[in-house]
Amino acid sequence: MTTIFINIKELIQVRDISIKKVSGKEMSDLPSIKDAFLVIKKDVIIEFGTMKDVSFSADKTIDCSGKIILPTWCDSHTHIVYAGNREQEFVDRIKGLTYEEIANNGGGILNSAKKLQEISEDELYTQSAKRLEEVMTMGTGAVEIKSGYGLTVEAELKMLRVIKKLKENYSIPIKATFLGAHAFPQEYKNNKEAYINLIIEEMLPRIVKENLAEFIDAFCETGYFSVDDTDKILTAGKKYGLIPKVHVNQFTSIGGVQISVKHKALSIDHLEIMTDKDIDSLKNTETMPVALPSCSYFLGIPYTPARKIIGANLPLALATDFNPGSTPSGNMNFVVATACIKMKMTPEEVINAATINGAYAMNLSDKVGSITKGKKANFIITKEIPSYGFIPYSFGSNLIDEVYISGEKVN
Ligand code: NIG
Ligand code: FE
Repeated sequence: MTTIFINIKELIQVRDISIKKVSGKEMSDLPSIKDAFLVIKKDVIIEFGTMKDVSFSADKTIDCSGKIILPTWCDSHTHIVYAGNREQEFVDRIKGLTYEEIANNGGGILNSAKKLQEISEDELYTQSAKRLEEVMTMGTGAVEIKSGYGLTVEAELKMLRVIKKLKENYSIPIKATFLGAHAFPQEYKNNKEAYINLIIEEMLPRIVKENLAEFIDAFCETGYFSVDDTDKILTAGKKYGLIPKVHVNQFTSIGGVQISVKHKALSIDHLEIMTDKDIDSLKNTETMPVALPSCSYFLGIPYTPARKIIGANLPLALATDFNPGSTPSGNMNFVVATACIKMKMTPEEVINAATINGAYAMNLSDKVGSITKGKKANFIITKEIPSYGFIPYSFGSNLIDEVYISGEKVN
């Protein structure tokens, strides 16, 4: 079954040759074809070009007059699998408590862990699937999901099994990350080493045996996991073939960038607080810096210094961080708009950051992130809009008409 999309006002992020990522000045280049057509066969892109050259006869024709097509968003950092919500902490913060104070009072990650430990795997699946479906309708066509709200062997496995089930039941590419090192459970507060041993000796072998994760993460932060702890965890993960993707520099710069780079992390994420030394440490590495502007927005913390990072000729990816505490939103449209408005990125840069660079941060550059022959037929058809710059500009509007994932229309 072939489908041709014709009269596309502009086909965005067209890459004839598959690229892995774009860095520095390259991020300003967003190749496109005006008055274009696109052909898909089953779940794959097979042809595209300008309308004047079209000679393809397909089983089905869809007219896209006035509409723009771009690859679906690649959200490389989420915690979509969680139990319940934390609106009370939201209100507490409005009334003046800080994120840190709430966490110190037993709220925060431990609050979510308690809720998750108490519900069944089926209930967790139902809650999480709803969020996954929501982000798909908002244009996300590839997603990474972390564990880290279990914090016991059984509950971490429960989370990862839910991610596996989502993978089996939905056509959207999903990548799983083990984040047992998200917070120290209360009972380990005075014996942190014992929790790290639990992660390394009990959680990791079981996860690997069941093939539940491809990546390993740690919350490397003051009051959470130290650089040494992170080193131990990434070293152990590597023995099992897990690739690091690490939470660093959200509140403080303590050496998380350097330890992650040493372990050849695929990505380092958050980066709200970056010193010049941190930026220098990323040069000549294959590690993707990932900014999470919705988290900065929601918590009122600094935004990742995108101009400095891109100015250092580095790449940058954008992701949501969808989670119940710091970012209860999985809306990538809001992420790209906020990156323009608050981080001074251009529309070209944010689209590159949220497509091809996001794909790289999940090891998916060869399958998604651009309009390229042989890649997955994952794309957004916008409503009738004047230009692609209208997407971040019109920040509160829903400009998506249809979303295709693996060649099928998302309802
Ligand atoms: O990425 N920073 C660490 N973890 C999550 C938030 C955790 C929570 O508050 O539930 C994040 O922002
Ligand atoms: Fe996160």
